[in-house]
Amino acid sequence: MESPIEEVKNRIDIVGLISEYVTVKKAGRNFKALCPFHPEKTPSFMISPERQIFKCFGCNEGGDVFAFIKRSEGMEFGEALKFLADKAGVKLPDYKPGGEEKLKETVLEANRLTSELYHYLLVSHSSGKRALEYLKARRVTDKSIKDFQIGFSPGGNDTLVKFLTKRGFIPKDLITAGLILPSFGKGMYDRFRDRITFPIRNLQGKVIGFSARSLGSNQPKYMNSPETPVFSKSGVLFGMDRAKGEIKKQNEAVLVEGNIDVVSSHQVGITNVVAPLGTSLTEKQLEILRRFTETLLISFDTDIAGDAAAKRGIDMAEKIGMNIKVVQLTEGKDPDEIIRNNPNLWKESLKKPIPVYDYYINSAIKGFGTSDPYAKKKIAKEVLPQIARINDEIVKAHYINKLSGILGVEDSAVATELGRYKFSAGEEKSPQVKPEIISQTNLLEKYLLALIIQSGDLPKGVGEDLFGDAELKDLFNLIRNQVKKIGKVRIRNLGNQMPEALLAVFDELILLNIGEEILEFPERIKKEIISCVKRIKSLNLRAELKDLSLAIKQQEITGSEGKTRQLVEKFQKLSSGLVEPEQNIS
Ligand code: CTP
Ligand code: MN
Repeated sequence: MESPIEEVKNRIDIVGLISEYVTVKKAGRNFKALCPFHPEKTPSFMISPERQIFKCFGCNEGGDVFAFIKRSEGMEFGEALKFLADKAGVKLPDYKPGGEEKLKETVLEANRLTSELYHYLLVSHSSGKRALEYLKARRVTDKSIKDFQIGFSPGGNDTLVKFLTKRGFIPKDLITAGLILPSFGKGMYDRFRDRITFPIRNLQGKVIGFSARSLGSNQPKYMNSPETPVFSKSGVLFGMDRAKGEIKKQNEAVLVEGNIDVVSSHQVGITNVVAPLGTSLTEKQLEILRRFTETLLISFDTDIAGDAAAKRGIDMAEKIGMNIKVVQLTEGKDPDEIIRNNPNLWKESLKKPIPVYDYYINSAIKGFGTSDPYAKKKIAKEVLPQIARINDEIVKAHYINKLSGILGVEDSAVATELGRYKFSAGEEKSPQVKPEIISQTNLLEKYLLALIIQSGDLPKGVGEDLFGDAELKDLFNLIRNQVKKIGKVRIRNLGNQMPEALLAVFDELILLNIGEEILEFPERIKKEIISCVKRIKSLNLRAELKDLSLAIKQQEITGSEGKTRQLVEKFQKLSSGLVEPEQNIS
């Protein structure tokens, strides 16, 4: 009998699973993607369908489907198993979660029930009538209310306390869940009172917390769930569970400020829209977005706070290498208002986002005006540091020209002024990888073996003598034996009979990013193999010559003349091999 773990592994395909999180592309017999776990601009995240494993050569994260889910969902092994078993339809009869997992489950269940209760109270109960009217007045439709499971938390102090304790939840867990608050001497009371509730969901759509808006102008306008075992405000985006599919499909995400903006936009059919919970966009939130797309349209409110938030967002998103554009809003203070007045205007604005540089220019003009020299100076001071960051000279020239037009000065004046702003590039953060000293020969040996494994082609003339590294030599011999036996390299078979000690290096070589531009052309692979063999031989030869010349020096000092001559002859013979390396590979 298969164990549930094996059963899950057999039923879940790692490529399909990972492509729910990031866009994957075929690369030879593997797939590659931008690593979801660290910022990067070129893919170093590889997936092997045959071995059902992944590895990022940038941050060294790697493993099977469980490792992937543990890392991307922040789950313990047991939770990941349960998550994947659910997905695969595998029953886990005697699964018993540990303490921490159990608490998370309890919190999630309390949230789920709470969301249902609040939604019920909003749409079907007299206590929710006022809230429903408020939403209707703001043109939120029944469908949106249902889709987002918007709800109402009543004004009484302990509606939820009673509701949940009756269902067996203990106060301690509900406090941990952030749903109720202790009150000295007076038991407990509900955290959210007399508010419209927006359930906040994780990527799987599970309710992890709430964002609750007051009905009128009561302060604070919003109250969010506190940090709980399942909720961290800085690590979620409102609406992501509903938007992620469309974001991936369109390869573009729209970031708005408010929950209501998200709802309104979804309501008119633009569904790749999400909001950070509050205006301070975090790097974690951007990382989540980046798993689905590299392109971000920022459309924050048209007030000063929104402007500052947009600029912060731009900086942060650029730092992690995303492409950002800004959706300029006209005729309204935020997307919600614009959508209410004219949904088409919203759709049109999204079709023509402006580059961030134009956004900076517009925002500075709006802020300072262009009437007097001091205003112009302020504009320059605000905009030039941005223009200084542009790498492309033509694009840069374009903005110099644009700015000089606005300021009414010569291009050269702007260009000179620009020289003052030294650009410190937002360098790609390199992940913390332990430096490992690897010789060039070792790298070449690995590359050669990877070429053989991934192409499935073992040309004659490639022998074990090429491999100085013992592990690589063993691996090579296993491959050669298989080719002798069945005429080709079969990854699956090899993997199954691989000794434990060689598995790690085997998996590394399977996943090594060779590049489709080579792997898809047998003649290029062969050429690559030949040149690899040549380089290894010549490196080995050089090493041998170096040893020899040392030995000759030694002999000259201490040894016999005859012995020295012998060594010199050997040296000469060997070094002629450097000039014309053998080429007997077929
Ligand atoms: N927010 C918050 N706490 C506050 C105010 C705002 O967490 N005290 C968050 C909410 O997620 C809110 C977002 O910041 O959705 C944007 O704030 P705001 O524009 O004030 O709210 P809207 O949702 O747009 O509400 P409305 O349009 O009804 O004013
Ligand atoms: Mn708003």
